Amino acid sequence: MFDLYQLSEDHIAVREAVRELCDAKVAPNAAAADENGEFPQASYDALRSSDFHAPHIPAEFGGAGADALATAIVIEEVARACASSSLIPAVNKLGTMPLLLSGDQALKERYLTPVARGEAMFSYCLSEPEAGSDAGSMTTRADRDGDHWILNGVKRWITNAGVSEYYTVFAVTTPGIGPKGISAFVIEKSDPGVSFGAPERKLGIKGSPTREVYFDNVRVPLDRIIGEPGTGFATAMKTLDHTRVTIAAQAVGIAAGALDAALAYAQERRQFGKPIADFQGMQFLLADMGMKLTAARELTYAAAARSERGDADLTYFGAAAKCFASDAAMEITTDAVQVLGGYGYTKDFPAERMMRDAKITQIYEGTNQVQRIVMARQLLKGVI
Ligand code: CAA
Repeated sequence: MFDLYQLSEDHIAVREAVRELCDAKVAPNAAAADENGEFPQASYDALRSSDFHAPHIPAEFGGAGADALATAIVIEEVARACASSSLIPAVNKLGTMPLLLSGDQALKERYLTPVARGEAMFSYCLSEPEAGSDAGSMTTRADRDGDHWILNGVKRWITNAGVSEYYTVFAVTTPGIGPKGISAFVIEKSDPGVSFGAPERKLGIKGSPTREVYFDNVRVPLDRIIGEPGTGFATAMKTLDHTRVTIAAQAVGIAAGALDAALAYAQERRQFGKPIADFQGMQFLLADMGMKLTAARELTYAAAARSERGDADLTYFGAAAKCFASDAAMEITTDAVQVLGGYGYTKDFPAERMMRDAKITQIYEGTNQVQRIVMARQLLKGVI
């Protein structure tokens, strides 16, 4: 298949606008968010002021109506400045995608509008302590009780837990039949019986809280189910097809920030009487970093174009982009630390933070081993 994507003037303008905003108002918060492990409220405020906090929400719900490629560009540029902050638009897309794909109109209007306005964020609750890669083995239950569902269970690794007002929660409504017994619900932070664990102490993305979410006899009105009972697992997987593209974009952005830092340092730092960028050994390293970044970005945008069109090969491309870009980001950020030498190993420069932040992109929204399972299944089905 040939036509991948082409950046329009609008896409280029979006990139310039986000970059300008992030250089001025997001990058300056990145080191402190990492050091203090605090949610970067100033970044959220800046992103909200320019409608970059949840750009994918359609105009009919008051959103900016960005297409999947523009949304990827926003997330990439925010991640270039601060990976933790990029989880604001990324997780808003992850949390709301089940509603966009499968929710009814009333539920969409009720819950997407506040997110578009920047009054609420939306998280996604799939994983559990004993159900990570094997998402279909979840045990959180939703039992029907008259005109309510009663939710009980624990979700783990929930990004932006506690700061989000809304949560898409996947739960078993018909036990014993596997993925076909799973349904999706919108849960509010203020629903009685919802509570949160302590923030996880992590290697990176320290400015984005990751916590357990507990559901203790949470009574959920019937109209808060997303789609028909039993369709939740398929909705969860379809969501990830789209949002693995956004994690790829995040990885591309982290890698781009690291390459920027490496290029600047290599031209400033002098050894043996000249800038280290003049040494061929350094040039080969920088060239490899650029090559990997370019390949990752092209694959990510090709996947974003498929996400926008809803192509049949999106499942493959989403997994491939996420897997390739996150592996590239890990290599590029590690090489950036190497270019900066001893300085790269310190917190006086951003490379070590970027290296720590890159690691999670190989793990969340499905480990890269799971991505390979997904890709292989698509290849064997002849989809590609
Ligand atoms: N689109 C539509 N339907 C899909 C689908 C897709 N992409 N993938 C699977 N399904 C459907 C299947 O068609 C199947 O239905 P049928 O029986 O009717 O065909 C059903 O769902 C079950 O599918 P599988 O048999 O493929 O399921 P499986 O148990 O073998 O699991 C898996 C497959 C790929 C390993 C899946 O469990 C998976 O993706 N695991 C990783 C989970 C993950 O990514 N978790 C991250 C959570 S988000 C996060 O990281 C937190 C955060 O906040 C950032």
